[in-house]
Amino acid sequence: MMAGSIAHSRPGPPFKGTFWVMTLALVLVFPSVLAAGIPRDSVYDDVKPVLDSNDLVNDGTNALVGNHFEARQNHGTTILFTVTVFVTPAQPSTVIATAKEGPSTTTTVSQITTRPTTKSTFKGSTLSTLTVVRSSSSSILTSVRSSTSLIVASSSRSSSSLFQPPLAITNNQRSAGSTTSSARSNSSSSATSTISTSSTSSTSSRITSTSTSSPTSAAQPTFVAAVGAETVCVERLKIEDMQTQRPDSFNLLLLAWGELQLTSETDDLSFYQLSRIHGAPFGPWQMPEQGNYNWEVGYCTHHSVIFLTWHRPFLLLLEQTIYRKAREIANRFSADVRPKYQAAVNGLRLPYWDWSDPNTQSHIPTIVTAATVSVTQPGANGAPVVTTIPNPLKSYTFQSADSIATFWQNFARWRTTLRQPTSDGVTQEDLADRTLQNGYTNRRQSTYLAFSQGRYNDFAASIESIHDEVHAAVGGQGHMTYVPYSAYDPIFWLHHCNMDRLMAMYQSAQPNTFIEPGNSVATFANPSSQLDTVDTPLYPFRHRDSSWWTSQNVSTVNTVFSLSYGYPEVPCPLSFSNFDTLRNHTITEINRLYGPAPVAPTKRDVKAYQMRQEWQAKIVIDQAELLGSFTVFLFLGTPPTDPAHWATCPTMIGTLAHLGSPEKRMYSRVIGTHVVLTDTVHENLGPNPTKEQVLNYIRENINWAILSGGKPVNVPQLHTLRVTCVSTEVTMPTCPNELPKKGTDTYHLEVTAGKPGGSKSDCDVNSPFQIDGKRVGLPSHISITK
Ligand SMILES: *[C@@H]1O[C@H](CO)[C@@H](O)[C@H](O)[C@H]1NC(C)=O
Ligand SMILES: *[C@@H]1O[C@H](CO)[C@@H](O)[C@H](O)[C@H]1NC(C)=O
Ligand SMILES: *[C@@H]1O[C@H](CO)[C@@H](O)[C@H](O)[C@H]1NC(C)=O
Repeated sequence: MMAGSIAHSRPGPPFKGTFWVMTLALVLVFPSVLAAGIPRDSVYDDVKPVLDSNDLVNDGTNALVGNHFEARQNHGTTILFTVTVFVTPAQPSTVIATAKEGPSTTTTVSQITTRPTTKSTFKGSTLSTLTVVRSSSSSILTSVRSSTSLIVASSSRSSSSLFQPPLAITNNQRSAGSTTSSARSNSSSSATSTISTSSTSSTSSRITSTSTSSPTSAAQPTFVAAVGAETVCVERLKIEDMQTQRPDSFNLLLLAWGELQLTSETDDLSFYQLSRIHGAPFGPWQMPEQGNYNWEVGYCTHHSVIFLTWHRPFLLLLEQTIYRKAREIANRFSADVRPKYQAAVNGLRLPYWDWSDPNTQSHIPTIVTAATVSVTQPGANGAPVVTTIPNPLKSYTFQSADSIATFWQNFARWRTTLRQPTSDGVTQEDLADRTLQNGYTNRRQSTYLAFSQGRYNDFAASIESIHDEVHAAVGGQGHMTYVPYSAYDPIFWLHHCNMDRLMAMYQSAQPNTFIEPGNSVATFANPSSQLDTVDTPLYPFRHRDSSWWTSQNVSTVNTVFSLSYGYPEVPCPLSFSNFDTLRNHTITEINRLYGPAPVAPTKRDVKAYQMRQEWQAKIVIDQAELLGSFTVFLFLGTPPTDPAHWATCPTMIGTLAHLGSPEKRMYSRVIGTHVVLTDTVHENLGPNPTKEQVLNYIRENINWAILSGGKPVNVPQLHTLRVTCVSTEVTMPTCPNELPKKGTDTYHLEVTAGKPGGSKSDCDVNSPFQIDGKRVGLPSHISITK
């Protein structure tokens, strides 16, 4: 929650100081209907707050006195309305909401006490006791009173326009609260799922964090700025290290992540809504309902130069949400252990999954595959209790059939996210793990080579194709393989945290290059620009002052430190040191983690090591050639006859994965990747083969095959697939704080020319076919100068 300052001009004693914005949802439930089962679709359709004639919100004294609303609805069941309250935290204050039926019966429906002091004062738990059970009525008069100077600014989910915020607020600081309801009006009400998730404690509370320092136009909905943990810099750790090195922080991470998944899916800060930003169901997130939108896609920026930078505020938003939740949880522990957990909150950052790490060799971390996890949580009276909960890192379970109703194919039926599922919707973690592990050697080599790219755009594109391939290996025909659904699998976030880390490492290692303008990609709120640049807004992410994030805002490595995080390779303690020290540290780590093993120190070997020939297979294809998601598998050796074994067989070296939407054809764009063959070549021919030996070996053994939607594709029928053998001289570092340097590429067309999809001319490599039959300039990262 943010605090800001206001000074407004209503008559009477000036209302000055910081204030909180808080939204309460009050739900009134009629027991007769509860017994009969709540008719969910009709319950809320005519709830309207009506200004009572006694309202005197601008009277200059206690703004709350006499502030009434009438809630009516026609079906005689449940009434919900939302009240947004602006509170001065300078003194404690009790807020009481009462409901009145007829002249004599008054029931207190909600009472909360606000406390002065800092941000963490409000707790969700304090607000979660707002149920009242009423006998019968179709109209209820409710009033909200408080012990101190409060202003009620707005009410009701469906018709905030009926209720104007006090002048004092509109004049100076028309703040988020007053537009909360309208911003959410189309997303079918926080009310509905409040009831459907739990009919007996039909309450919800929402604390809306908002910027108050610089109001936007009245049409802007409430927003939560992407700001991160807002504390000192703390490293995000590899997930295995976070478990062992910060066990209490990790415990809180699991608890908070678990609670986030249980947060009502209508809450903008629920796991569902945060993941939805990336993909489906397509729609605005904290942006006006009406706009220049593309309702076919989500906000994510795949295949654009702003791919990596867009995901940076995306991750921050999840990180800060989990962080704040963890802080609430820590405060629920009893006084004797509370300090320990409060301290552990400080060590909480998103963990990452390093799928190129030589120690774990691309295995999926055990902690993200276990069905349940053991955690210590605050029990009765806050005493720590060890208990077992469903593992929030394994999957997400959608809260209702409605949440996935607009999804396609199986995804409209699968209520839980799945990895490499069978056609019956059973997750196969083991298959996902074996698929991942099988791609390890190529993945580690490709990660290393990406750092040899001299231009940021080339680095980003190389890393993105590794990223695609990891998505598809985890997902199979499950959520991770399809862009609209991938962010619902919790492993998405650990995967992307690693992407962010690689970006930060590159920024540290190669500080003089950043985004150059490139082809744009249509996204939900940016449907039609021609070029994406450092200044393209990263919708829907905002800064505190409500301005949009841009890539410019993360153009140097130092920017991560000010967002309260670092990584072991880009550590916080070096944030104030000499730039070179940081760079040297990062490069040393890149070489240690991903560089090839040093060779025996004979003269010949050293020379071969220093001028290393990298052998690669370059694959390009127009993503519009096939429907849905597809994967091109590259083999050195014969592929198994059963396509189900392609991904995990020993002859499979690497893949080009295209992530799409089920059954959908993407817009035309040639995508590509390099699969690194060098280690396999060395394994089979020894450390110093002649060029001729290598070319013969690759020609005799190279094969490729494609699965689209899990089914084999007839390769000779494809128009745009081209596979080429490429060798590159890479100058290896002679000391640990130097990066490898990529030399010129040489094509060996004769290696693949005889096969369906094999390149036959330099043009096939430099300027491959589009699906419309024209040749195009390649995306810069795969263009090759000869
Ligand atoms: C509201 O949502 C419905 C689908 O639920 C959609 O058809 C409609 O266009 C939306 N309205 C606005 C104003 O965006
Ligand atoms: C973000 O970058 C834009 C330029 O693209 C700049 O105008 C804006 O001030 C920056 N915002 C912050 C908070 O740094
Ligand atoms: C970083 O490494 C370079 C190259 O070895 C060296 O010249 C320089 O002194 C190092 N700088 C720092 C600050 O360690």
